[in-house]
Amino acid sequence: MNENTVAEVKNLIKNYGTRDFTATVLKGIDLTICCNDFIAVMGPSGSGKTTLLNILSTIDKPTHGSVMLDGHDITKISNQDLSKLRRDKIGLIFQDYNLLDTMTLQDNIALPLSLNGVASRVCMQKTEELAGMFGLSDHLKKYPYQLSGGQKQRGAACRALVTNPQIIFADEPTGALDSKSGKDLMKCLKEVNDSGRAAIFMVTHDPYCASYAKDVYILSDGMMKCRLSRGSGRKEFFDRIMDAQISMGGDFSCD
Ligand SMILES: Nc1ncnc2c1ncn2[C@@H]1O[C@H](COP(=O)(O)OP(=O)(O)O)[C@@H](O)[C@H]1O
Ligand SMILES: [Mg+2]
Repeated sequence: MNENTVAEVKNLIKNYGTRDFTATVLKGIDLTICCNDFIAVMGPSGSGKTTLLNILSTIDKPTHGSVMLDGHDITKISNQDLSKLRRDKIGLIFQDYNLLDTMTLQDNIALPLSLNGVASRVCMQKTEELAGMFGLSDHLKKYPYQLSGGQKQRGAACRALVTNPQIIFADEPTGALDSKSGKDLMKCLKEVNDSGRAAIFMVTHDPYCASYAKDVYILSDGMMKCRLSRGSGRKEFFDRIMDAQISMGGDFSCD
């Protein structure tokens, strides 16, 4: 592991099931995520994308293999250390936003800070800065029911970033959004990554969203099948992602 490594898995295997019947969902994955990476993982439904993201983001545990996060093997550290790592180093974005209905957008974004006892002046400052980046400055006093899906998801992204995590994990972040809102979110996430704020590890079934990443990994039947790197322009990258998807049998439809 070098100093730029944020997360790394080696020979990652995940089985589900009982003693009588086990299914191997991840079949020996090796992956390194560096601090300036923006990785999109694609693949058919059931190929293990969410399982991989959940293990990397400490939500789930591997059956075999090592998972390093910020220099710690998360399979070996205490629950207390794991909670601290989760709180300080990781941001999560879910498909369905998970904002609290009874709080304003500003309070939702600030929640990870206020739970840590950070002074409200600092919370305000930080939320206003992020809201500016995500085009939400005029919406901070609103409640989630007063916001569009795209605004809610950009708010959820601000909440994920408010603690200055090293890495953002996002599972199908545009899954519930129309294409314009999805594009707006991807542009913001790209800016977050380009400005060096955080690495991003995103699962998506949408080649257009994936084309905003720097690298696309294609997972199939629990194994990494290929890796595409952007290099040049986004449109050309999109075409290559489409070609790879077609050569693997077509649509990676939504779960
Ligand atoms: N908690 C679980 N128990 C048993 N099987 C599971 C569990 N979670 C996922 N699976 C199975 O693992 C496989 C991969 O699931 P998942 O990682 O959600 O795939 P993807 O996100 O690529 O659609 C699927 O066959 C799914 O049914
Ligand atoms: Mg999934």
